[in-house]
Amino acid sequence: MSFEDSQIWTEKYRPKSFEQVKGQKDTLKRVKAFVEQKNMPHLLFAGPPGVGKTTLSLVIVRELFKDSWNENFLELNASDERGIDVIRVKVKDFARTKAIGNVPFKIIYLDECDALTKEAQQALRRTMENYTKTCRFILSCNYSSKIIDPIQSRCAIFRFKPLEEKEIEQIIDTITKKEGIIINAEAKKALFEVSEGDCRKAENILQSCFAVSKKIDENIIYSMASVARPKEVKQALELAINKDFLEAKKKLLDTMLEYGLSGLDVIKQIQKLIWEVDVDDKKKLELTKACGEAEFRMVEGSDEYIQLEALLSQFCLVNLN
Ligand SMILES: Nc1ncnc2c1ncn2[C@@H]1O[C@H](COP(=O)(O)OP(=O)(O)O)[C@@H](O)[C@H]1O
Ligand SMILES: [Mg+2]
Repeated sequence: MSFEDSQIWTEKYRPKSFEQVKGQKDTLKRVKAFVEQKNMPHLLFAGPPGVGKTTLSLVIVRELFKDSWNENFLELNASDERGIDVIRVKVKDFARTKAIGNVPFKIIYLDECDALTKEAQQALRRTMENYTKTCRFILSCNYSSKIIDPIQSRCAIFRFKPLEEKEIEQIIDTITKKEGIIINAEAKKALFEVSEGDCRKAENILQSCFAVSKKIDENIIYSMASVARPKEVKQALELAINKDFLEAKKKLLDTMLEYGLSGLDVIKQIQKLIWEVDVDDKKKLELTKACGEAEFRMVEGSDEYIQLEALLSQFCLVNLN
């Protein structure tokens, strides 16, 4: 197997230019303008995983520095650098030398900033100030609300969104064409459903499926993603609504065992399916509430089977009174 073959697809298919980045339209427009001016403030990228935060940072750096991007870029992860002191030392070393080329600053990408404590964020803020002349920071986080105000106010903030179905589909199409994969429309839809707009997740699941078969259908996708097919969970719910509690319970248990699902996986699926089953809207709201309560108790450590059975019983009760 050549290196090219064994490469992980999320790296192999990481966009290298603005044109290749899907979605995130407003963000792209604003960021492009900074790059054209060869000047930019510190940036804060907020959003869920796998939607292009790291990717866009790398594109910025490539566009600004061209061939010398590597020397002008430092990537750190706040959650594995063992604290702010290590980060400070690395930033200091990096910032000591001037940027190469005609851009007057270097770029530091700091991932998972919301993992830093408030005190560590204060120290980070001071570091950012000390090196503002020579460095720009791109901070990345899942939730901007976890970043202290003094940092937020020093950054231009960008909110990244989960990718939409057509965007994920375009990415899947590119990969399947290059890799010679045969995939049908249902499988593409399934891949989008299980990825929840997280492109890294979609690409990783696709690559695991590819290891098993070059022909990909929705069954392979659901089993790789260890997510039950909505169809089977829905059947269990329908049995419950038709007052067949024992069969419903059996169906749900079988599905969990077959796909190796946790109670929380199942609750998430049920919660999505409530709006598709045939009960009136007021009941749907009650069931949604019951779902929330079961999820909470499960997270708190309650037995998942007891919670799932209790939840199924609520579906049964819908038509009993
Ligand atoms: N907006 C996007 N357009 C195209 N591919 C994307 C996009 N976002 C993510 N990807 C794919 O998913 C991978 C992981 O994305 P990344 O930018 O590292 O996510 P994160 O937002 O967690 O930093 C990329 O290498 C790329 O293959
Ligand atoms: Mg990232």
